[in-house]
Amino acid sequence: MTTHLLQAEHLSKTYPLPGGGSHTAAEDVSFTVPEGGALGIVGESGSGKTTVARMLVGLAHPDRGRIAVAGREREPRPPRGRAARLTRAREIQMVFQDPYVSLDPRLTATQCLHTALRLHGKQESAARDLLDRVGLGAREAEARPRDLSGGQRQRLAIARALAVDPRVLVLDEAVAALDVSIQAQILRLLAEIRRETAVALVFVSHDLAVVQHVTEEVLVMRSGRVVERGPTRRVLTAPETPYTRLLLASVPTADGWDPAEAARAREAV
Ligand SMILES: Nc1ncnc2c1ncn2[C@@H]1O[C@H](COP(=O)(O)OP(=O)(O)OP(=O)(O)O)[C@@H](O)[C@H]1O
Ligand SMILES: [Mg+2]
Repeated sequence: MTTHLLQAEHLSKTYPLPGGGSHTAAEDVSFTVPEGGALGIVGESGSGKTTVARMLVGLAHPDRGRIAVAGREREPRPPRGRAARLTRAREIQMVFQDPYVSLDPRLTATQCLHTALRLHGKQESAARDLLDRVGLGAREAEARPRDLSGGQRQRLAIARALAVDPRVLVLDEAVAALDVSIQAQILRLLAEIRRETAVALVFVSHDLAVVQHVTEEVLVMRSGRVVERGPTRRVLTAPETPYTRLLLASVPTADGWDPAEAARAREAV
């Protein structure tokens, strides 16, 4: 039986514009992710990917729609009680593109994990294992964020997210700023974590090669709407919409990037 661990139905979000009027960042976005599954969200800049990610974790409140984890509906706003807030945090964790802004600059990597573990009533001793798992050694364990490299900071952010044993991990361009070898390391780490913990991933990225590597299903977003969806391999090798073809044509491949083809695809949309 396939159970839908994460269910998002009809998510919509409209932002008021400063000069009056409004902008619809997401419109009627629905999807499910099974336990241990990975869903990619792709689309050009401004298509609404981060808006959907933020709604999932509760950083933005959908105007319409619902989100459920393991059949339990998420409250639109963080609940009041401490226990309820922690339960909610355990359902969905997010890793951002730039973990600098979400890590406390005063805490060493170990202290950062201790804080997360304590908050969730877990043994601080688990920090060692988490650091190990993301490949941070003894030196990095005692370093503060500013003394870590970008890749190391990202691994610390992933370790902190994992500290609470989340059911769902949302990654928004989480490997975008990293060089290819560190990227590969983080992607291997994510695959390992999925096998070991059955965590479900929502993987937002403009990098289609990475999305193909990490996910089984993919949503293609354009102007806040889902314009195509399906198995990642099918969507990225035999796209059904001109927009997805445009996205694919805009990506430099191993055989080089063909600007003429990209231009033709752009005209077709
Ligand atoms: N807080 C906000 N207030 C007003 N408009 C917003 C807000 N957040 C996002 N938007 C608008 O909503 C649209 C979708 O933004 P979003 O950040 O979701 O795009 P994205 O697909 O993540 O793009 P990128 O690939 O560049 O990260 C954009 O037009 C953006 O300007
Ligand atoms: Mg974004």
